[in-house]
Amino acid sequence: MVGDEIMSTDRLWHNVEKVLVSRDEIALRVASLAGEIAAVYDGRELTILPVLTGSLIFTSDLIRRLPLPMRIDLISISSYPDGTLESSSPKFNLPIPADLSGRDILIVDDILDSGRTLASLAAALERRKPASVRSCVLLRKLVAGRKPLAGADFVGFDVPDEFVVGYGLDFKHLYRNLPDICVLKAHAKGGAS
Ligand code: IMP
Ligand code: MG
Repeated sequence: MVGDEIMSTDRLWHNVEKVLVSRDEIALRVASLAGEIAAVYDGRELTILPVLTGSLIFTSDLIRRLPLPMRIDLISISSYPDGTLESSSPKFNLPIPADLSGRDILIVDDILDSGRTLASLAAALERRKPASVRSCVLLRKLVAGRKPLAGADFVGFDVPDEFVVGYGLDFKHLYRNLPDICVLKAHAKGGAS
């Protein structure tokens, strides 16, 4: 039981305020997302581009539900918080795969927040002349009055404007291995929004 784990003195769980999306809800939604994706591609070969590190767990579950031939090439991007000089240009930590021409590309990311990461990745990929580029995000953060810079073609869950961790998502590199999507206690985040 999740509650038992939170009640324990386990160091992984003791900063967790609440579970926002449980592991069971995630598993069900990932299976139905895979069905939506498979229907769109209708047996064509896919090139999956997981955005490291946050989409690691989501991708590994999703692809095992996708009955399509696929290649996997890794993308690594560092996103910067709002207000820093780098905020308008996320940094690519790995070279973008070279041989994407004519491919059907599916970007897989953990969360669509401002959309800056997906917008800059999609722009870089278009220069490689793929046949198509779509994106799948586990979470889409809904912020009142804000329109993201990029949309996603497949979305697991819409979540409120809270900082979430677990199932791949981190706070300062920690909590990725929580099996549920969780909100941290305020004191654990310090000044983070
Ligand atoms: P965007 O470029 O603003 O859409 O931000 C996307 C990236 O910011 C995600 O891939 C995450 O790495 C990170 N991010 C945004 N919101 C959260 C959150 O609530 N928890 C953990 N990471 C987040
Ligand atoms: Mg990320």
